[in-house]
Amino acid sequence: MKTHTLLMPLDMHLHLRDGVMLETVAPLTAYSFSGAIIMPNLVPPVDTLEAVKSYKQRVMAAVPNDYFEPYMTLFYKNYDKAFLESVVDEITSIKLYPAGITTNSEGGVSSFDIEEMRPTLEAMSELNIPLSVHGETDGFVMDREAEFMSIYELLAKNFPNLKIIMEHITTKAAVDMLDKYDNLYATITVHHLLLTLDDVIGGMMMPHHFCKPIAKRPEDLDALLSIALEAHPKVMFGSDSAPHPQHKKETSGCAAGVFTAPIALQLLCEIFEQYDKLDNLQAFVSDNAQSIYGICPEFKEVTLEKRTFVVPQNYGSVVPMYAGQAIAWAIESVD
Ligand code: NCD
Ligand code: ZN
Repeated sequence: MKTHTLLMPLDMHLHLRDGVMLETVAPLTAYSFSGAIIMPNLVPPVDTLEAVKSYKQRVMAAVPNDYFEPYMTLFYKNYDKAFLESVVDEITSIKLYPAGITTNSEGGVSSFDIEEMRPTLEAMSELNIPLSVHGETDGFVMDREAEFMSIYELLAKNFPNLKIIMEHITTKAAVDMLDKYDNLYATITVHHLLLTLDDVIGGMMMPHHFCKPIAKRPEDLDALLSIALEAHPKVMFGSDSAPHPQHKKETSGCAAGVFTAPIALQLLCEIFEQYDKLDNLQAFVSDNAQSIYGICPEFKEVTLEKRTFVVPQNYGSVVPMYAGQAIAWAIESVD
């Protein structure tokens, strides 16, 4: 039986929510990942030291063992340096959302006035806190990410010592931007390595493939695959696994978010094997993130086996991507 072992897999963009949903989804990630960057878009957002600390405690309480590190984030606002100094040891990144652009982002940034943001972004540069960005404008849905490239350039030029992570990139435009500035990095989801807009609305409408940013064109998918499969050193895996209860997905007014946490490593093995690039998967799911973020995760060894795994219909109230479908790889053991 063909197997493939991954050491310390990391998910550099994850939504865990709170309450019952947190208890449902956190153990699934903690099982197969050493750690994950935990998104702060709760209601209300995680924007104080107390909120970061107490959310971390709730996450830890929801995972069944200690072999998982939640890397906490703060919801971006124009914070002052004294506050950032008080919180720097508790967070791994600060997540910036343009106001209203996605789920629970109403309190985000409404104008990208660099001078207004300068004190915060300079303090973050000095304290070595990375800025993780949901890079979409409020333009036409297929153009939102490409339109945001000028804002990435503005940020990258004005704050050369700030690590800027272009989160969940979906376009060739973002791939082309990556090497233009030393301080730009990116995360890529597994669903954006599989889907185009056709898989969302090209046939029957597929709510469990609907997320922000929306999957784009075949040439965008090819560009994403090219940097993921070569494990470009500025690119990391970030699932953007974003659970919503079934009744909020399978309804008129479907919430944005694809739930992939429990199937992500299996799908990545399938994709990387298909292109004969399995040897690069370790860098994509862990090593690159360790260098970029300067983190040293808990030891975990995950062995996957090439055998059919049928994706469950649901995990609690959440329907995963590819529910009921077969994936060519399964998790065999975790040590
Ligand atoms: C995310 C969510 O549900 O919190 N949704 C999504 O479609 N990806 C928010 C986000 O990352 O945009
Ligand atoms: Zn997200």
